[in-house]
Amino acid sequence: MGGNNNYYWSPSTIWYLDDDTTLVVGKLRITGNVVTIFPDFYYKACRGLSLHGALREFSYIKKDIMRKFWSFLIQNNILINQIQEVDNLFNYQYKVWAGNSEFSRLNVGNIKTVLEHMNKGVMRNPVGEDSLLGINLLKNPNNILNAIKERKTNRLFNKREPISMEVFSSLFEVLSYRSRVEYATSYYPSAGALYPIDSYIYVKEKRVEGLNEGLYYYHPFSHKILMIDEKCNIRDAHYEGNKHTYDESAISIFFVFDSDISMPKYLDRGYYYAIIDVGIMCQTLAIHAETLGLSTCIIGNLNFDRISTHFKLKGKQKYLLGMECGIKLTI
Ligand SMILES: Cc1cc2nc3c(=O)[nH]c(=O)nc-3n(C[C@H](O)[C@H](O)[C@H](O)COP(=O)(O)O)c2cc1C
Repeated sequence: MGGNNNYYWSPSTIWYLDDDTTLVVGKLRITGNVVTIFPDFYYKACRGLSLHGALREFSYIKKDIMRKFWSFLIQNNILINQIQEVDNLFNYQYKVWAGNSEFSRLNVGNIKTVLEHMNKGVMRNPVGEDSLLGINLLKNPNNILNAIKERKTNRLFNKREPISMEVFSSLFEVLSYRSRVEYATSYYPSAGALYPIDSYIYVKEKRVEGLNEGLYYYHPFSHKILMIDEKCNIRDAHYEGNKHTYDESAISIFFVFDSDISMPKYLDRGYYYAIIDVGIMCQTLAIHAETLGLSTCIIGNLNFDRISTHFKLKGKQKYLLGMECGIKLTI
């Protein structure tokens, strides 16, 4: 929280004065003297403001109160000095959508409603009546690669035998660099051939031949795994609905965005491309896993904060997505 470091108002945090005495910032309601520094404080924080700057600019606020307010804003990710967690990037989108949408919030506890919504979704036709002519296309699933046809999300895995070192190595080889002339390329596409996604693997005890339990970093350049920590309670980070899948899997994979790699070139869009890159990596891994007799389940919902210290990430690295993997269960 260095006094001279510039912090910025998080672009996804809205604020307004509810009345003369209450400041609403995101979901928080704030009262007291600090309310009087708005909107000035906000304008300055949009340009970049340090704690020293804030103490100087708003000297009519007691120093200890300003310091406390400053820490409060940082703790709540309202003042930021590094890129935001992916979860915060899209704040407020739902509110705007809800304000203009004919759909209401889905009751996910009601299976009938969820199924109706899913079916409505797949039947949709955004051009509808405006379409001039519908032409039936030929259908021939034989032309689709078997691995693509057979891939499906699995949440149960064969726990009786470990993944062999050969299969484990081959699985991750698809994330390694395959050729390097002027620059490296991999088996999957990445915006600008920058490959800004770091892959971390948690190997469970006795689930991969010859490997100790632990958290590893996969180094795609050397095709090596490097142990970072021996124990890590990954289960704790999973939401209820995914704990069972975690209990079944042999390995967990975590994809982390290194913003230093793509933001110098793509600026803000670097984050957007990284999210796309992760999707492509997951699908490439899932299809390759299929050919190796493995199965996968992408994990979108994970409380990464609970395990983040084990990863020893730099501030410029942000967790994006997870995947559980194990030997395919054949009944
Ligand atoms: C971005 C993303 C997030 C997902 N998150 C979860 C998850 O948290 N838990 C889970 O069980 N499945 C998750 N899935 C898997 C989907 O539920 C699954 O792909 C979908 O039901 C279609 O089934 P299929 O993959 O077998 O074709 C996720 C998939 C994607 C692409």
